[in-house]
Formats: sequence, C-alpha cells, structure tokens
Amino acid sequence: MHIRSNYKAILVTGGCGFIGSNFIRFLLEKVRYDGKIINIDKLTYAGNPENLKDIDERFGGTQYFFERADICNFDAMDDIFRKYQPDCVVHFAAESHVDRSIHGPKEFINTNIVGTFNLLECCRKWWEDDYQSKRFHHVSTDEVYGTLGETGYFYETTPYNPRSPYSASKASSDHLVSAYHHTYGLNVTISNCSNNYGPYQFPEKLIPLMILNMLEERPLPIYGDGKNVRDWLYVEDHCYGVWLVLNKGKNGSTYNIGGENEWCNIDLVNMLCEIVAIKTNKERNYYKNLITFVKDRPGHDRRYAINCDKIKSELGFIQTVDFEKGLQKTVDWYLHNAEWVARVKSGAYLQWIEKNYAKR
Ligand code: NAD
Ligand code: DAU
Repeated sequence: MHIRSNYKAILVTGGCGFIGSNFIRFLLEKVRYDGKIINIDKLTYAGNPENLKDIDERFGGTQYFFERADICNFDAMDDIFRKYQPDCVVHFAAESHVDRSIHGPKEFINTNIVGTFNLLECCRKWWEDDYQSKRFHHVSTDEVYGTLGETGYFYETTPYNPRSPYSASKASSDHLVSAYHHTYGLNVTISNCSNNYGPYQFPEKLIPLMILNMLEERPLPIYGDGKNVRDWLYVEDHCYGVWLVLNKGKNGSTYNIGGENEWCNIDLVNMLCEIVAIKTNKERNYYKNLITFVKDRPGHDRRYAINCDKIKSELGFIQTVDFEKGLQKTVDWYLHNAEWVARVKSGAYLQWIEKNYAKR
C-alpha cells in the first residue's frame, strides 16, 4: 500500500472523530507516512482523543501533534497555520449526524459551512505564493446528490440535490471548495463517500447503535419500513481512497468513493443480529426479537448508490474488506473495547476532556 507522498506536514481536521482517527492511524501504521500530522479538533461529543491515545504515545511530539481548536475560530486556525506551516489539509471536521441536523441545524451551518470557509481563507492567505505544491482535500458525502429510486447511481456529474440540513451544509461546503479552486486557483480535491462503518464510530450511527443495543438487550429501532438502502464501505478502505486522491488526484477534481455494496437497513440489521448472536453464544435469531419499527426520519432519503469507476480507473482504488468480514471485525472491536464504550456512553470522556484540554 505504499503511495509516495510529497507532503511534509498534513493538517487533519476532525482527527479525533470516527473517520479522522482511523485516517491518522492508517497514515502512521499502514502507509508509514514519514512527515508531520497536525490534528485539529474541537472535541465535540463526537471527538474523543482516546481514539488516538496509543498514537499520541508513540508519535506525539515527533510526527503527531494535537491542537484543540474550533475551525469556526479564524484566529485560532491562522495561528495553527503560522505555527506548523502545513502544505496539505485533509478536512474531515464536521457535524456529521443527519438526525441531529434535523433537531438542531445551527451547528451544522456553523461548522460545516463557516468552518470550511475559514480553512479555505487560511489556505488562501498562507499558500498564496505557491498554490500548486499545496493541496486542500475536502472530505464529503454522497448525500449531497439527494436520493435515488430503485435503480441508478450517483456519478461525479450527478447534479446536487441535498435534502437534509446536514447534506445541504455539506453541499454548501463542497461548492465553496470548488469556488476557491476556480476563483483563486487553490489546488483542491473533493471526495464524496458512501456510509462508513468500523471501529471508533460514535454509537449514534446505525451499525454501532445496533451492536450496542443488542449487547444491552435493548430495542433495535428501524426507521420507517426498513427498506431504505445505503452503500457500505469499511472505514479503512475510505482512508485508502482519500490517501489516493490526496496524492494522485487531479487538481480541481471530485472523486466518488463507495463500497459497491448496497443493503437495505432491515437486511443489514438481520445479518448483524446473526453475527452478534454467534459472537455472544446465543441462538442464531436471538437478537432479531429486539427489532422495532419506529417513526420514519423526516425527509428520509430512500436509496444511495455510488458509482466509483472514476477513482478505480484513474487512481487504482479497490475495496479490500468484504462486508460480512468487515462487520465481524467491527463487532469484535466493540466487544473488545468495553471500557471505551462505557466511557462514551456515560459521557465520562467529555468531563475528562474539559479537565485536560483548553478550548479555543
Ligand atoms: P464524526 O462526527 O465522527 O467526527 C467529526 C469530528 O469533527 C469530531 O472529532 C468532532 O469533534 C470534530 N469537529 C466537529 N466540529 C468541529 C469544529 N467546529 N472544529 C473542529 N473540529 C470539529 O464524523 P465522521 O463520521 O468521522 O465524518 C468525518 C467526515 O466525513 C465528515 O466531514 C463527514 O461529512 C464525512 N463523511 C462521513 C461518512 C460516514 O459514513 N461517517 C461518509 C461520508 C462522508
Ligand atoms: O452516506 C454517507 C453518510 O452516511 C454520511 O455523510 C453521514 O455523515 C453518516 O452519518 C451516514 O448518514 P446516514 O443517515 O445514512 O447514516 P445513519 O447511520 O444515521 O443511518 C443509516 C440508515 O439507517 C439510514 O437509512 C437511517 C437508518 N437508521 C438509522 C438509525 C441511527 C435506522 O433505521 N435506525 C436508527 O436508529
């Protein structure tokens, strides 16, 4: 998996979240990236420095640097650019949960739009002399394309049609990134990815929520009729795709990343029930009794399906993790990390963060 990288200092935003922490781990453990990584994270409920505790112990102060900061604070971002002089930004930081965006869209507008704008402004200011050797990579979602019927796929050329406050805020940020490329000549790439799953995912999202509810024998809430379809990708495969785009992607280009692995929610949850049953020595259908159909998510997109031929043919991307094996690995991770789960579920990590990290 060796891909040569010319970047000397990569600024990763949202590196304490689910995908960001997997990405930093992937860079240092799998790709053996030898430059510096600066992780900026506000540490919202979704950001947990514990996700990178071992990385900090092994690489902290030499290759890995952490700054608790809000991307909405321009002065803080400006200071960080001055201090570390990054030549690349990989922008993961965002409010990421659709249900939360329905109940409270404001933070989504601030972080996802204003935060992205601040980072772009820093790049414009600090990279002005030589845009070509620097790169801003924006991590986005397939949700910007809207929803599909029973057939068809999202292509990079599919018109944007976001339908939730979350996807509208991500679409806005994608447009800002493109605008900075076209207007100022900033070297940018964008990736639009489908649903990720794997270790360190906050248990508000479908897969970890279901696993943990099974372990506590709580109801498994399925929205609507359970026939909504998502395309699932193991998080490390997404990290690999981002790394490819960052280093080999064409300036100004967008790349779809997906699993080519469509599942409707009810089939996925049934399969997950069987995997967890085997791992916890229960009868095969044991957890299925917990499945409970609940009121649908407002504006619930029916089907997402990604066509990712472009990243495959141009950059050589392949998915490496089979879905059932990926789910088994994910279930194992949650079973073997009961302390992480307990701290996250009780909110104890939030008190620990407030005691140990100054805010800016
Ligand atoms: P996450 O919610 O797990 O993590 C988000 C991280 O951003 C957290 O560490 C949080 O503390 C940080 N953050 C939030 N607001 C911030 C702010 N104002 N300043 C600095 N840091 C802030 O999200 P995730 O699932 O890891 O998603 C990461 C990115 O990938 C997001 O941009 C999301 O839109 C995109 N994405 C996610 C998926 C998925 O399936 N999870 C799929 C496609 C794209
Ligand atoms: O497609 C990429 C997107 O995938 C990312 O951009 C988002 O950041 C990420 O959160 C994810 O969005 P979804 O809304 O698809 O993910 P979520 O895990 O919330 O829901 C997956 C599906 O499961 C969706 O159809 C809603 C359904 N669902 C979800 C939850 C939490 C349920 O039926 N019950 C639940 O309790």
